[in-house]
Amino acid sequence: MRLKNKVALITGGANGIGLATAERFAKEGAKIILWDVSGKGNDVVTRLKKEGCDAIFQKVSVTNQEEVQQAVAAAHAHFGRIDILINNAGITKDRTLLKMSKQEWDDVIAVNLTGVFNCTQAVAPIMKEQNYGRIVSASSNVAIRGNFGQTNYVATKSAIIGMTKVWAMELGKFGITANCIAPGFITTAMTDLMPEEVRQQSLPLIPLGKWGVPEDIANGYLYLASDEASFVSGICLTIDGGAAR
Ligand SMILES: NC(=O)c1ccc[n+]([C@@H]2O[C@H](COP(=O)([O-])OP(=O)(O)OC[C@H]3O[C@@H](n4cnc5c(N)ncnc54)[C@H](O)[C@@H]3O)[C@@H](O)[C@H]2O)c1
Repeated sequence: MRLKNKVALITGGANGIGLATAERFAKEGAKIILWDVSGKGNDVVTRLKKEGCDAIFQKVSVTNQEEVQQAVAAAHAHFGRIDILINNAGITKDRTLLKMSKQEWDDVIAVNLTGVFNCTQAVAPIMKEQNYGRIVSASSNVAIRGNFGQTNYVATKSAIIGMTKVWAMELGKFGITANCIAPGFITTAMTDLMPEEVRQQSLPLIPLGKWGVPEDIANGYLYLASDEASFVSGICLTIDGGAAR
């Protein structure tokens, strides 16, 4: 087991990539702190527990700094440590620059950028105290290649690559690694929002000729969260079937 007795906090764990990650980490022996704004996270944790995983669900919005700090303190009191933070929660509100409202900009910044800051800042002192930690955040391959209609989303996903490099520098001396993943098109509720026409247009851009599944990204999170990646820090691992060029 690659994460035996490690305690992993996964944000946005009720659906899609976060859910696949919670399931994958549980199979590798991790204890799970699952966060989501959706109460569906409760059902996920109930199922994980039935399968023998030590897990708790906390209904937390990563946008709310006070809520994040309180939930981290409670989870830390429960498990005694937090080894892994998976900053996975994210949303899209796509619109071209000329049509994007200030609200659409603010909403995406609040979850995808401020949320990642809130969670990392709350967990890092615990990791520092332990002299051990793994921080892995969700960027996107659109951070590298841009994407039509995603000024807000691309801004956040590019920022995650930059913040990750800063955290690798600042936190390395405390035994903490910081990395991120840049997924390409992955079949989840998020991409279900995309028009069928756009989905079809995406296929010729992917050398492997297909979309990924949430488990493809869960496997990347697992590698970067494991001790196999103990000398890997500050990188962005692209998992997109070869599309980001
Ligand atoms: N699916 C893709 O193709 C793709 C590609 C690149 C990057 N990503 C990134 O991967 C991550 C996961 O995406 P997904 O496709 O699984 O999305 P998803 O919509 O299936 O799941 C996201 C989860 O985050 C939760 N969430 C939303 N706002 C939250 C908040 N404020 N606090 C806590 N939880 C919140 C949602 O309730 C949901 O359960 C996101 O950061 C996304 O930007 C996805």
